[in-house]
Amino acid sequence: MSTEARPLRLGILLSGRGSNFLAIAESIRGGRLPGVEIAIVLSNVAEAAGIAAAEQIGLPHAVLVSKGRPRAEHDADLIACLREHRVDLVCLAGYMRLLSPGFIATFPNRILNIHPSLLPAFPGLDAQQQAFSYGVKVAGCTVHFVDEHLDHGAIILQRTIPVLDSDDAHALVERILAEEHIAYSEAIARVASGDYEMQGRRYVRR
Ligand code: GAR
Repeated sequence: MSTEARPLRLGILLSGRGSNFLAIAESIRGGRLPGVEIAIVLSNVAEAAGIAAAEQIGLPHAVLVSKGRPRAEHDADLIACLREHRVDLVCLAGYMRLLSPGFIATFPNRILNIHPSLLPAFPGLDAQQQAFSYGVKVAGCTVHFVDEHLDHGAIILQRTIPVLDSDDAHALVERILAEEHIAYSEAIARVASGDYEMQGRRYVRR
């Protein structure tokens, strides 16, 4: 019998461009996420560029259109697909649809999300624009476990950048995105290591 540990299989959920997914794929390809593989890339939007990208780089992918479908019913199909591909860890990468309580209960502390603000500030849509308009001097991104509330679960890590006087909202979006691309792989590596414990909401490394 092999003594090699079984790889941690990711299920990536996305709705759009997929740059965070591609950053994760590149980390794996470059050997920076040993013991981690992408089992399936799933989109709820047929035209998502991220799905075309998955096809182009030869990763398993599927579209399960959510529009017009009850959330619980669509999520049941997502769960079936993730199970079929033996997914251990679900990574939301620009997945712009709330998950049902049933989905979250199926993967307890096994769903990650990336959000382009320093949570709990600026949850929801257009977080970078919200932060820019508010006039914050430090911005950034957050990778967190997903719970039943929007952009709310326990924080794994955050990366920060200064907001410059010369910034406009577009520049801020781009600079935060560059941090997101580093943060997500780092958070996956931390979760994959299993070397942490939860103290209430607090993610603490051992
Ligand atoms: C990213 O900026 C991500 O943080 C954000 O959507 C973008 C997806 O870009 N997610 C959220 O706002 C979730 N609340 P991508 O498709 O290029 O990864």
